[in-house]
Amino acid sequence: RSAVFRATCQSRQCVTMSNIETGKKAAAFAAVNENIKNNQKVGIGSGSTVVYAVQRLAQRIKEENLNIICIPTSFQANQLIQEHRLNLGTLETCPILDVAIDGADETDKDLTCIKGGGACLTQEKIVASCAKQLVIIADDRKDSQELGTNYKKGIPIEVIPMAYKPVQMKIQDMFGGEVILRMAQQKAGPVVTDNGNFVLDWKFTKPCDSWDKCNTCIKMIPGVVETGLFINMAKVAYFGTADGKVNKR
Ligand code: 5RP
Repeated sequence: RSAVFRATCQSRQCVTMSNIETGKKAAAFAAVNENIKNNQKVGIGSGSTVVYAVQRLAQRIKEENLNIICIPTSFQANQLIQEHRLNLGTLETCPILDVAIDGADETDKDLTCIKGGGACLTQEKIVASCAKQLVIIADDRKDSQELGTNYKKGIPIEVIPMAYKPVQMKIQDMFGGEVILRMAQQKAGPVVTDNGNFVLDWKFTKPCDSWDKCNTCIKMIPGVVETGLFINMAKVAYFGTADGKVNKR
């Protein structure tokens, strides 16, 4: 009986997962179809949804013989670009990008995003800031009216390792909530970013009146490298649903 029970659970979990993946793929494919043109320089974000964007981009480059240079936001993005044999660029050779395509952990009604669930926030923000437009791709669980509604893990903040404790305390004193040092699986040690830093996750208890002011205050704390708040950066977001439809806003 327990084997049957396990099998049922596993297949249910499988259905749920594939629905989420359907949404991610639909969003990524629509965004690549509508936003990328020949001879563009494209920022490639990080995370699981971006994998589908790179797949679609590789298809289009082959089918339409496009000339695209891809600038990665992380080690993962760099690997993806190379695995698909796309042209790899850097911000040194391409400091101005036409578009950046990236995932998000949550996006509110104004397209303010929480990013950094994969600890790549700093390079993601640098690349997005160099792009004429940032296009967000996600499954529709990431679509919120207000930050903190759907995503409960808080706002990621990349910090210089020696400063993690004072930064943790200062954010808690200023804004309340709980600031947690992100640990690797099985608590093997702190998560270390591609830049050699640590990540704090600020679990805020109530949404800020002004995320902009809050972001500026946090960035002023010595030791803070970057926050996962992306304010006034995204121009458009594509949210894919479980049945493969896409809501764009
Ligand atoms: C990584 C990120 C990702 O874009 C974000 O976490 C969304 O990831 P996914 O597409 O896997 O849901 O900010 O730092």
